[in-house]
Amino acid sequence: MPATIVLGTQWGDEGKGRVVDHLAKDADFAVRFQGGNNAGHTIVVEGERFALSMVPSGVIQPGCVPVIASGVVVDPKVLISEIDMLTERGVDPSELKLSANAHVIMPYHRKLDAVMERHLGVNNIGTTRKGIGPAYTDKYARQGIRIQDLYDPKIFEDKLELVLTEKNKILTRVYNQLPMEIGPILEEYLAYAERLAPYTTDTSLLLFQGLAEGKMVLFEGAQATLLDIDHGTYPFVTSSNPTAGGALTGSGLGPKVIDKVIGVAKAYLSRVGTGPFPTELHDAAGETMVEVGGEFGTVTGRRRRCGWLDLVALRYAVRVNSLTEVFLTKLDVLSEFETIKVANAYTSLGETYDEFPRQQRVLYNCAPVYDEVPGWQTDISAITDFNDLPKEARRYIEYIEHRIGVPIKWVSVGAERSQLVVR
Ligand code: IMP
Repeated sequence: MPATIVLGTQWGDEGKGRVVDHLAKDADFAVRFQGGNNAGHTIVVEGERFALSMVPSGVIQPGCVPVIASGVVVDPKVLISEIDMLTERGVDPSELKLSANAHVIMPYHRKLDAVMERHLGVNNIGTTRKGIGPAYTDKYARQGIRIQDLYDPKIFEDKLELVLTEKNKILTRVYNQLPMEIGPILEEYLAYAERLAPYTTDTSLLLFQGLAEGKMVLFEGAQATLLDIDHGTYPFVTSSNPTAGGALTGSGLGPKVIDKVIGVAKAYLSRVGTGPFPTELHDAAGETMVEVGGEFGTVTGRRRRCGWLDLVALRYAVRVNSLTEVFLTKLDVLSEFETIKVANAYTSLGETYDEFPRQQRVLYNCAPVYDEVPGWQTDISAITDFNDLPKEARRYIEYIEHRIGVPIKWVSVGAERSQLVVR
């Protein structure tokens, strides 16, 4: 039963889209299992750029069935616009499968995301304001609307009436906003249901049957380990489980089906939104990473905070995900630097930490303990053989491997499909 999980090891934006695109060549299914349109996956195919946030990146590979499983929260408007965009650009999304159990992002979720962030002021999370957190909140409060509810207009209306009554009280009395009317929401979402009907199915059964037939399933993580609701830098996290366990709960399969867990790590580090970031740079080196790495969010366009690679955090990702291998991305961005720093431990409140600290207070006070290694300062963006890389680049890769105890099997040196070193 060959199933592989691909996930982010850092704070997102590691380049998972291009990794999945590469691996989906051999996959029969590419599965999104958590998150929603807070994710932004960019894939470049022969100079053409595809930015996806709801449809799994695997859709770009012919023969690979894209699946949106139960753990995802779905904004139907966004999903439909991506289906239309792909169709217009000659990519056929007709094989897309959507779980009937996936929860739906409603207009009040988006509204609440925005007003709650505003209410938090300087303590805001820096969310993508797509309604992700409020949609998951309703899911766990058992007042969410699922895709299947949209196909039973009476149930949908009853549920919506109940939940909207409560949301309107919160919107008007807590946040001083105008209430929302039920009529236009019903009409809008019933129209979405019609558009999404051909794709809606039992995705857990579909994947189970596919695996039983020996088909290959690729789980495509969104966000990343340090944004995990349970294992990330809470509360500056997303509202789902992007770690390996989330692939199973989010898709309705058991752990025996997994044979590989591939962690995607950028050769340096970035974060959007607020929250601790021990190796963050506020100098020219950080500026170079932003400029050369094009570190602006796919979804919100926000400038990403950048810093040196953090091996304490990467070892943590190896641990909580049982990583079997690593895909290192954007190594070419580091070609700019004479020397490269890598954090191998932290000091905080008078103590040294080799392991990612559990306590928020400790993490906030962390200062990185760096190793400094020589850079290569030469263009590596056309290299596809490991042995052709400058020796300093090879040493950087081997140094990381040695420190994390997991092999680095792929290194990307540019955004194009071909700009890849496979070891
Ligand atoms: P939310 O997921 O929109 O609720 O945002 C919560 C936190 O996760 C914020 O810091 C966001 O910037 C961050 N976040 C959510 N999705 C992504 C992503 O795909 N890449 C990077 N950061 C993300």
